Order: sequence, then structure tokens, then C-alpha cells
Amino acid sequence: YGGQIAGGQRVLVEKEDGITWVIFNRPEKRNAMSPQLHFDMYDAVTEAEGDPETQVMVITGAGSSWCAGMDLKEFFREGDQNPEFQRKVGWASQEWRWRKLFTFPKPTIAMVNGFCFGGAFTPLVACDFAIASEDALFGLSEVNWGILPGGLVSRVVTDVMTLRDGLYHAMTGDPFDGKKAAEMRLVNYAVPGDQLRAETVKLAKKLMEKNPWALRATKQAYKLVRNMDYSQAEDYLAAKAAQIKLQDREGGYDQGIKQFIDDKTYKPGLVPWPG
Ligand code: ACO
Repeated sequence: YGGQIAGGQRVLVEKEDGITWVIFNRPEKRNAMSPQLHFDMYDAVTEAEGDPETQVMVITGAGSSWCAGMDLKEFFREGDQNPEFQRKVGWASQEWRWRKLFTFPKPTIAMVNGFCFGGAFTPLVACDFAIASEDALFGLSEVNWGILPGGLVSRVVTDVMTLRDGLYHAMTGDPFDGKKAAEMRLVNYAVPGDQLRAETVKLAKKLMEKNPWALRATKQAYKLVRNMDYSQAEDYLAAKAAQIKLQDREGGYDQGIKQFIDDKTYKPGLVPWPG
């Protein structure tokens, strides 16, 4: 990026017990996405992708905000004066917010602790799961200052919200809280703020008990088949299933069947394979 990366100060990364916490770190600006924050997120997500210690990645925000959207001053006003730089930022922003997160090889959870506006909806939807604080505040606020939900926001929101709900919020800009976000299925569930971290860790631990190769193929396949026709999906799913058997170093398929059918040590309908 022509020397624009300066060491990750806009994003904190903390690792604990298999969970990597990637934290937007501009609390004084409600974690609005400045160019530097985009570059730092790109780096943090890229590093976590190949990091063997990262089994689950959680994205959250420092302070009272998850992410207040694109930085109106640094990305829009100042970026408009320097289109070449703005294009670089735009590329990095699309790359981490959508492509990298959507296809991230391990489970991802958006832990929405506070404000979530505009451009922040893209990483919100790209994560496999989203858990919100009941009093988090969401909004497709673009219309409130004269633009549309761009940079893929309109496209990705239609993946998770109904046309009625999404269009309502895109056209009115009305903010809504975490409870309402769960009702509209924009997030999986909302919990009181003081339980947010514990609930997130609980979900992450549940995921870490699963066979990681099966989990990876499952998320990739589930997300991608939606845009395939039936014969493409059938062949692709068969190929993914074969891929798991080749990659799985735990031999989960054979072991799982053996432990259920022969050893009778577990019931796969109820719990994960004990290994
Ligand atoms: N871009 C640039 N600066 C921002 C942004 C933003 N998106 N959001 C907050 N800030 C800055 C404020 O300018 C302020 O800076 P200052 O202290 O230098 O004056 C600081 O963050 C704190 O913001 P306040 O408004 O004082 O904080 P408050 O907690 O009262 O309100 C809220 C938070 C509701 C998030 C408010 O800041 C806001 O409406 N922000 C804009 C949200 C938005 O519409 N985002 C853009 C969506 S469109 C898109 O992403 C493409």
C-alpha cells in the first residue's frame, strides 16, 4: 500500500484458548473505518487465516461501538480529493470486509457490542454468526446523508433480511436495537450486554468441538451453493465431501461410524464425535 500500513494501531488482536479476538480500535471515533483501519483489518484477517492458533475468529469493537461505518471525513471527504488513494482503500476495504471474511477458512463470529452503521453491515453479514448486545444500535444510515448503501451493503443485506425489512431500513434510515436485529434475523440472537462475551465464548467453544475439516467444508459449501443451479450444487457438494475425506487428519468419518455402530460410545444425532 505504498507505505500506508503503520503497524496495526487501529486494530487490536488478542488470542486466548483458540479464539482470536480482532478488535476495531478507534473508540474515540466510534470505530469508524478510516483508511488505516481498513489496512490494519486486512492485515489482521490475513494473518488469522493461516494462523494455527486461531480456531475461531471473533470481530468486535473497543468502547461503546462495534463500528460506525465508513469514516465520513477520512474516507469520503478527504478521499474524494485523492481518488487514487481512495481506490486503494476501497480495494482493501472490499477485500477484508467481504471476500476474506466470507470465505475465511475457520468459523467467524461478529460480536456486536454497540453501534453498527452503514458499511459495517458488510463484515456483519460476511461473518458466519452474529451475536448482538440487546442494546446495540444498528442503522442503514446512508440515506440520512444522501447516499445509498453501497460497497456491497445493499447486496449482502438482501442475503439475510427480507425485502420488506431491508428496504424499510434502507429507505427510512431508522435505527433499531439488537433485539429487533435478532427478530429480523440480521443477527442470530441478542443477549444482555453483560452476557455478550460469555455467550460468544460459549458458541466458539461449541464450534471448536467439531471436526475442523468438516466445519470448513460445511461453511464454504453452504454459503456457495445458494448461487448454483441444482446440478452444479450436486457435483460441487460431492467434490467437497471427497475433499473432507482427503484432508481430515482425524479420520472422523470412519471413526465416527465405528464409535456409533460398533463401539456404541456416542450418538451422532445428539453430540459431536468425541475423537
Ligand atoms: N465517520 C467519521 N467520524 C465519525 C463517524 C463516522 N462514521 N462516526 C463517529 N465519528 C466521530 C465523530 O465525528 C466524533 O468525532 P469528534 O469527537 O472528533 O467530534 C466521534 O466519532 C464521536 O462521535 P459522536 O457523534 O460524538 O458519538 P455519539 O456516541 O454521540 O454518537 C453515533 C455515535 C450515533 C455512531 C454518531 O457518531 C453517528 O451518527 N455516526 C455516523 C454513523 C453513520 O451514519 N455512519 C456512516 C454510515 S454510511 C457508510 O458507512 C457508507
